[in-house]
Amino acid sequence: MISAPGNGGQPGNRTIFIHDNLPVLEGMNSGMADLIYLDPPFNKNRIFGSPLGEPENGRFEDIWNWSTVKDEHLTHLEIRHPKIAAAIRGAARMGGEPYAAYLTFMGIRLAQMWRVLKESGSIYLHCDHTAGHYLKVMMDAVFGRKNFRNEIVWFYPDTPGRPKRDFPRKHDTIFRYAKKGGWLFNADNVRVPIAPESRERYKYSRTLGGREYLGGKSAVAGKVPEDVWRFPAVKKNSKESCGYPTQKPLALMERIIKASSREGDLVLDPFCGCATTCVAAERLKRKWIGIDLHKRVADLIGERLRNENIGLHKKVCVRDKPPKLTEAVDPRFAGSLFGWGLAREDLGDSGLPAKQKEELKVRLYSEQRGKCGNNHCPYGEVGYDFMELDHIKPRAKGGEDSPGNIQLLCGPCNRRKGDRNWDEFLKEEARREKIAPLIF
Ligand SMILES: C[S@@+](CC[C@H](N)C(=O)[O-])C[C@H]1O[C@@H](n2cnc3c(N)ncnc32)[C@H](O)[C@@H]1O
Ligand SMILES: [Zn+2]
Repeated sequence: MISAPGNGGQPGNRTIFIHDNLPVLEGMNSGMADLIYLDPPFNKNRIFGSPLGEPENGRFEDIWNWSTVKDEHLTHLEIRHPKIAAAIRGAARMGGEPYAAYLTFMGIRLAQMWRVLKESGSIYLHCDHTAGHYLKVMMDAVFGRKNFRNEIVWFYPDTPGRPKRDFPRKHDTIFRYAKKGGWLFNADNVRVPIAPESRERYKYSRTLGGREYLGGKSAVAGKVPEDVWRFPAVKKNSKESCGYPTQKPLALMERIIKASSREGDLVLDPFCGCATTCVAAERLKRKWIGIDLHKRVADLIGERLRNENIGLHKKVCVRDKPPKLTEAVDPRFAGSLFGWGLAREDLGDSGLPAKQKEELKVRLYSEQRGKCGNNHCPYGEVGYDFMELDHIKPRAKGGEDSPGNIQLLCGPCNRRKGDRNWDEFLKEEARREKIAPLIF
């Protein structure tokens, strides 16, 4: 097993996290990824690869019920991302508990992906008919309807399975969104040859645009592919197969990466499976970070990178010693990757010297009797390690570094507060308590 645990700061190029992606995303700086591709579990009855936990008794559970997600997460979305919460409540009315649970799982993570994505960045969400219609609404809520760019159909007709009373389902859908206007799109890097039978049409049809015009001198070879892409699915016996059931073709990933990133850019795949995105990014000289919670993929990825035969495995950092899963999803732990050495660098810190900070923390911890400084905090007594120093009046708004302006909050409260004023934060906290539970 490859392993070179990193310490401190932010994850660098060629890092694989074997962990639930939520706390990893929460620990990443804002605006660091140029491109995010995600191929999450699809809310099928049988989920491949044990998405939220290890298989029980050798079989995978249908995991999407309310007990597998956190009320806490929905409450957070209600307050900080009301549109996402509205999409979830709508889905709960339509599709009931499994959809509400699935979309809460996705919503809380997509909100983090939005934050981690650079202003000029793009995100590609890969899904299929089982939840795609709800996920598009969710993406509108997170990224904004005006930032929707494409609905790409990946068409893979040559796979087994021919139902007798339906048309065979042979495509997946990939929603492409930009974070804002001014997104990157490298049209010339993804051009494809024009089929001989269409050449005449292209030759005379100037309405297609000068750059795609093939007949005259100004011709650029090939056309930008339309939004239906045909690539063969990865067959078990194919060269690129590494035996992972939901493995996606490298060709598909290469087109996405070429279109929406430049050499040296950072590509992030928070549900990376057997690291197809990472391999494609490496081949195209992009930086990459992959996250997957399934322990088995650590070995598969190691093997795959070794087979790439570029000595890559020596450079890859696999962080594969997560806290137990139950701990990882405990809200007290959210965002604080103790023992992982991952620390946000974009949140600001008190300007006090380290020793003074530690003394202040010890004093406040005892004064606050081990409780978070927020009266509405749901966690009661919180361990010392999960407490963080917070500026009551944020530094961004002129708050000072003096001890009188510093209190102790638990990690989740500190993150919820962000750089808002204390009064504003408390008002929101009071609202939290009034939010109606989801009723199915
Ligand atoms: C559809 S597969 C991705 C396949 C990948 N695109 C490839 O080509 O190999 C979805 C992956 O998400 C992972 N996963 C599910 N829940 C996760 C979570 N909370 N955090 C990180 N990974 C998760 C699963 O273990 C699975 O490998
Ligand atoms: Zn708290």
